[in-house]
Amino acid sequence: MTPPKVTFRPFTPADIPFAHELKNIARWNQTLTDWHGYLEFEPDGCFVAEVNGRAAGTATTIRYASGVGWIGMVLVHPELRRLGVGTQLLRHAIGYLQRRETPCIKLDATPMGKQVYVPLGFLDEYEVSRFDGVAPMTGTLPSEAVFPFTTDELANVADFDAPAFGADRTRVLASLMRRKPGLCLVARDHAGISGYLIAREGHQAIQLGPWTARDPAVAERLLLAFFSRAAGQRVLVDVPGPNRAGREQIEKYGFTVQRGFTRMFLGENLLPGNPGMVFGTGGAEKG
Ligand SMILES: CC(C)(COP(=O)(O)OP(=O)(O)OC[C@H]1O[C@@H](n2cnc3c(N)ncnc32)[C@H](O)[C@@H]1OP(=O)(O)O)[C@@H](O)C(=O)NCCC(=O)NCCS
Repeated sequence: MTPPKVTFRPFTPADIPFAHELKNIARWNQTLTDWHGYLEFEPDGCFVAEVNGRAAGTATTIRYASGVGWIGMVLVHPELRRLGVGTQLLRHAIGYLQRRETPCIKLDATPMGKQVYVPLGFLDEYEVSRFDGVAPMTGTLPSEAVFPFTTDELANVADFDAPAFGADRTRVLASLMRRKPGLCLVARDHAGISGYLIAREGHQAIQLGPWTARDPAVAERLLLAFFSRAAGQRVLVDVPGPNRAGREQIEKYGFTVQRGFTRMFLGENLLPGNPGMVFGTGGAEKG
């Protein structure tokens, strides 16, 4: 069968209802606010694929500092799958990033997505597990050295985060921490920032992450302070496989694995970051 002609156009706010419908079909956790966020992060780097003039799929990109780019929200309408749309969307997004001096491209692949990305040259970095649970009532508040995350802290948090994530992502952290400030926390000691946690509303559950800390003890203090603010609510968090302490900690509070992703990269993995400090990622579509 001759593959259909796939064309691309820039994603605009008018495409959000279509994109959100594709997201709902996939049962992902993003909200309308998240879609507006992708347009804010990379206004020219979000795309709609069309087949014979009909909107068929989406992809978003984010350029972080130091030449690291991210691809996310790769969704193709179920009626138009296995026609090469996903592959061409990826090629289009990769081309966009490579033309803008982004030698390292990353993504967190679903098992379906991985089938498309491997032939394009993406390699595995590590597995990421999505944990699902309910924030427990934790009793005594471990408020010691944990504070609300205010905009005054942003520059220091971004400096702390960059070696853990692998690149500076100040503008993404700034956007995320403004969405639900009451669920965002910073841990500090005499030496400065020792960890932070950002959580935001999702479509089905609170999305916890980024959740980054110097060591497991700080991570747990942040987690308990978050639980005290979100007690009784459903929470999703994506824990990198290499961070065994993160997995143990979240399992200790009754969370179980809902599904898995594979963190993959294309090009040279110049800035792998330190997944030992990343207890929860910022979400599959932005790392
Ligand atoms: C993953 C997804 C984007 C793929 O889109 P698509 O347009 O069907 O992808 P393509 O047609 O380009 O597929 C290219 C190749 O990948 C492989 N592939 C794609 N989907 C597959 C599946 N479900 N099972 C096995 N192989 C698959 C096949 O080798 C396919 O080639 P073929 O059809 O000639 O055998 C689409 O299935 C989707 O939207 N899934 C739900 C959301 C999701 O998981 N997105 C990925 C996020 S990381």
